[in-house]
Amino acid sequence: TLFEQLGGEAAVTAVTTQFYANIQADATVANFFNGINMADQTSKTASFLCAALGGPKAWGGRNLKEVHANMGVTDAQFTTVIGHLRSALTSAGVAADLVDQTVAVAETVRGDVVTA
Ligand code: HEM
Repeated sequence: TLFEQLGGEAAVTAVTTQFYANIQADATVANFFNGINMADQTSKTASFLCAALGGPKAWGGRNLKEVHANMGVTDAQFTTVIGHLRSALTSAGVAADLVDQTVAVAETVRGDVVTA
C-alpha cells in the first residue's frame, strides 16, 4: 500500500506535522487554523491520511464534508494547501512518483473541503 511505501504511521505523522508547519507559515491559509489545537489537528489528519493511504486502521473521526462546511475554503486555497503537502513529502525525501500518488489521495477530499 502507499501507507507501507511511505514508511507507515510514523512517517505519515512526520509529513503531516511538516504539512501543518507549512500551512501556518503561509498567511493566505494560516488563519483557518486560528484557535485550533494543532497537535490534535495533526494527529487527526495523520490518522485520516493513514486510512486513506491503505493503512490498517479505519478513520474513526468525523465526516470531512460536515467538518469543513461553512469554512468557505476556495478551490485556490485548497490547491495552495495541497502544495504544502507536496512540499512536506518532497522535503521528507519521498520519491517523486510516490509524492504524486500520495497527493492524488489527498485530492480525493477536495470536494468535501471546498465550499466557496
Ligand atoms: C479539521 C481546515 C484540508 C482533514 C479541520 C479544521 C479546520 C480545517 C479549521 C478544524 C475543525 C474544528 O476542529 O472545528 C482545513 C482547510 C483545508 C483543509 C482550510 C484546506 C484549505 C484538509 C485536507 C484534509 C483534512 C486536505 C485531509 C487530507 C481534516 C481532518 C480534520 C479536519 C481529518 C479533523 C476531523 C475531526 O475532527 O474528526 N480542517 N482543512 N483537511 N481536517 Fe481540514
